[in-house]
Amino acid sequence: MLNSDTRLWQSAKSRYRLAMDPEQQAPCSVQIAGSDPQMLATAAKTAQDLGADIIDINMGCPAKKVCKKLAGSALLKDETLVAQILDTVVNSVSLPVTLKTRTGWDTDNRNIHRIARIAEDAGIQALTIHGRTRACRFQGQAEYDSIAKVVRQVAIPVIANGDINSPESAKSVLSYTGASAVMIGRACLGNPWIIKQINHQLIDGTEAQTASKKELLKTIKNHVRALHSFYGDIRGLGIARKHISWYSKNAMALPGFSRHFNTMDSTQSQVDAIDRLYENQWLDHYEEIAA
Ligand SMILES: Cc1cc2nc3c(=O)[nH]c(=O)nc-3n(C[C@H](O)[C@H](O)[C@H](O)COP(=O)(O)O)c2cc1C
Repeated sequence: MLNSDTRLWQSAKSRYRLAMDPEQQAPCSVQIAGSDPQMLATAAKTAQDLGADIIDINMGCPAKKVCKKLAGSALLKDETLVAQILDTVVNSVSLPVTLKTRTGWDTDNRNIHRIARIAEDAGIQALTIHGRTRACRFQGQAEYDSIAKVVRQVAIPVIANGDINSPESAKSVLSYTGASAVMIGRACLGNPWIIKQINHQLIDGTEAQTASKKELLKTIKNHVRALHSFYGDIRGLGIARKHISWYSKNAMALPGFSRHFNTMDSTQSQVDAIDRLYENQWLDHYEEIAA
């Protein structure tokens, strides 16, 4: 039975695509994006009321539909608006507010040093920098010099981001930039275990145990089921295909499985296909590859 809290939760979940479970996942950081300071403040307050632990503001997204509305990385072109947004959001909630951004709009306009100063003055508690401009999108190599300069310039923690895909690259970026932490993006797609591997190396210098086949398949099946339940039968089917394609290339090392999985046309047949991996030739194939 729905009580008023559950109804609020369900409606907020569908309206804001929020799916946090403060009992299971903490701390929970909720990212907000937009260009209107008051609307962003309202979004931040709503997330706070729903149980968020941290509010993160997105000024890094390069997508056209976001930048057209002067949101995401497009905000880097308007430093006055950046200051207004950060001040308004920080003053609207009692939670820590962090900022995720890029090094600038394009290589002629790298202004991360000024954005970082504005962020610190506004009371932003940590700053994540993707070492590319918006114009660079995901092309070329992330550059860490701008991140290193910001680390020397501000007192707040800086989190380095861009092209970190192994314990070795995490170590080298931390040492080169002096950043307090690293953020991993694309390398997690189809391989969420990379976080544990990197942590192990950084914290105790040891290699994390690789996931057993059983753990791997259980995680993948739970992930696919969660996608079905959150996005529904139609969108969930397509989003699960995308994730299985990443898992197949990365943690599973079974690229052929993605083609097979894409022929499944219902949520149940997708789950069954993963179940069959436990039993049949796919698992033998996996064992050959893993051997
Ligand atoms: C599919 C995809 C979705 C992303 N979504 C977000 C997002 O919602 N918010 C955000 O701040 N960054 C987002 N990013 C950017 C990443 O957080 C990260 O800054 C970028 O991928 C560079 O890091 P990497 O080289 O480790 O991937 C996304 C990246 C990808 C590839």
